[in-house]
This record gives sequence, structure tokens and C-alpha cells, in this order.
Amino acid sequence: MAAASVGGGGREGLPEHIAIIMDGNGRWAERRGLPKYKGHEAGMDAMIKVVRHASDLGVGHLTVYAFSTENWKRSEDEVKGIFQLLLIYVSRELEELHRNNVKVDVFGDWEPFSKPVRDALNKTIKRTEGNTGLRFHICLNYGSRAEILRAAEKMASAGAYTEEGFSACLYSAGVPDPDLLIRPGGEKRISNFLLWQAAYSELVFSDALWPDYGPAELDEALAEYAVRKRRFGGR
Ligand code: FPP
Repeated sequence: MAAASVGGGGREGLPEHIAIIMDGNGRWAERRGLPKYKGHEAGMDAMIKVVRHASDLGVGHLTVYAFSTENWKRSEDEVKGIFQLLLIYVSRELEELHRNNVKVDVFGDWEPFSKPVRDALNKTIKRTEGNTGLRFHICLNYGSRAEILRAAEKMASAGAYTEEGFSACLYSAGVPDPDLLIRPGGEKRISNFLLWQAAYSELVFSDALWPDYGPAELDEALAEYAVRKRRFGGR
């Protein structure tokens, strides 16, 4: 494993790159007798708080799994609801993200998205492209296997058959691998998220459902990360 493609570890034990599988919105809503949409809405609020906190802490990169290639299997209403929330998120938060010097981009294939969603994403990326603070990567219509296949096709035409060359063909080109991968929601699996990039990530699981996740839970995960000994396959 080339050290250059592994995250730098951040300053004072802070990860340079945190990746999060935002899981548990459905159960959060179900436990309250609320429609699923309300769970995703609360999940969006949790995401806003976590982005703000990561930015305040000086984390370099935050990647969130917002919509997977498999999520299209959910009901039409639920899928519509998530994209509606994405539009609300962008219109409500863009200026604050910009003020906080956050640079936003998207990992995933957004060709199938509606024009308003594509326009909103383009606007967000353009508005924040000059920012130098936290880089916030939103995974939308993202699946790691699809990303790897796409990268393999790109690499075949580029001919750069090295790990670095392959990494440069992923959506995450130029982004250090995640140092810390967090999964709230009680499940302990990777769910087709950053399979290549997370080769040496430290994994932290939490039973908190994503809408209940916030700065305190992130601090707990960071404290756990800070005492991990990372060896990257060495001694
Ligand atoms: C998984 O919870 C979550 C999702 C499939 C969607 C995540 C979406 C958000 C956090 C909304 C905000 C995002 C943006 C980009 C505006 P689940 O429904 O699978 O939970 P469950 O396992 O309890 O059913």
C-alpha cells in the first residue's frame, strides 16, 4: 500500500478524512410513529450539525453516504422525499457552507437526477469551489462496486496500472483515503461504501441512530480513533 494514498492522520490525532454511513433514519421515524420522510428530515439536521462540527474542528475531509445505487429500490415516495430534502438542504445551507469556507462536491453518478437536482448540485459546487476549509463530499447514487468498475474502464484507457493510478480514476481522485469510517445505526457492515479507499480506515460503530448522532457522538468516535494504533499492514 502506497503511504501517499493513505490519509495523513490529521493534527493532534485528528483524522484528516472522516467518512460516515448515515444509517438509522427509518428506524428513528418508526420508533416515533412518524413517516419515514421525517426520519430523513431529522437525518438531514444531524448531517448539518456534524458538518458544522467537523468544519469547526479543522477536519480536512468529510464524506457522507446520502444515497446509494441500491437506494433506488426504495419506494418512489421515499426516493422523491430524499431528493426533495437535498434541494431543501442546498437552498437552506449553501450560504452558511460558503461562509464557513466549506468546499462541496459529489461522489456518484448524477446523470439520472432531475434537472432541478442537477442544477442545485452544480450551483453548490460552483459557489464553494474556491473554498479552502473542510471538503465535504456527498455520495449520491454512489456504490463502491460501480465506482470501481468505472475506474477500471478509465484506467484501461489511461494505462496507468498502479494503485495511485487507480485511485486517481475514482470519484475520490486527489482525496486522501478515509482515516476513520463511522457507522451509526447499530449495523456492522460496509454496505458498498468506499471499498477501495477504506482499506486501512479505522472503523467505529455506534448504536445511535443517525438522527440522534451529533457533535457529542462524533467527539466520542474521535476519542476512540485517537487511541487506535494504525499500522497500515506494517508492525
Ligand atoms: C439510511 O437510513 C439513510 C438513507 C438511505 C438516506 C440518508 C439521507 C439523509 C441523511 C437525508 C439528508 C441527505 C441529504 C443529502 C439532504 P435508513 O432509512 O436505511 O434507516 P433504517 O436502517 O433505520 O431503515
